[in-house]
Amino acid sequence: MKIAPSVLSLDYSRFNKQINELNASGAEWIHYDVMDGHFVPNLTFGPDILKSFCKVSPLFKDVHLMVTDPVFFADVFMKAGADQITFHYEAMSSLDEIRKLAAHIHASGKKAGISIKPKTDVSVLEPLLKDFDLFLVMSVEPGFGGQKFMPAALDKISWLRRHLDEISSSAEIEVDGGINADTGRQCREAGATVLVAGSYVFKNGIKTAVESLR
Ligand code: DX5
Ligand code: ZN
Repeated sequence: MKIAPSVLSLDYSRFNKQINELNASGAEWIHYDVMDGHFVPNLTFGPDILKSFCKVSPLFKDVHLMVTDPVFFADVFMKAGADQITFHYEAMSSLDEIRKLAAHIHASGKKAGISIKPKTDVSVLEPLLKDFDLFLVMSVEPGFGGQKFMPAALDKISWLRRHLDEISSSAEIEVDGGINADTGRQCREAGATVLVAGSYVFKNGIKTAVESLR
């Protein structure tokens, strides 16, 4: 299981201390939530902050774009140092456009992920199973940290596990929202391979929390 602490919940008044703890916590990834105030009703970080994270942390930069225009912002964040770009199914207008963006991200030497919001049926991903390195199941409405885990995400994870196994795909299944030791265990049992956790990690002692998610 990979752990991807979401720096949305990092305490920016204690940046140095928290980033050092995060680097030493055993977490594999940094989950970086980009919100544009339009696709979701909240605003977060631009590319310059990602560049700063790249200077102070060797962890893999898992960028989650919650934006209306992923085609534009994918390039912006790849240039700023993203290792992986995940964009939303709901922000795109056709399967063709989705595949084109995935191919562009791959051609830029980065990993590509696609995410679905809680109200989106997981079966929309069926024609895309071979196009992505990662499938991100949102277990809260995207926009804010600290929300309660929606158990309906578990069936989506199992669906993905079954379908990816059928084609012998090693793509990651990531889950994001309301993850703690208990919900994290349920997601692992359903077949998830990456857990995003924000408030649970940064409000509980980073290393202890990361270890409790494994
Ligand atoms: C929500 C974000 C999440 C968020 C998770 O829109 O995508 O990554 O930081 O926060 P917690 O773990 O607090 O639910
Ligand atoms: Zn996220």
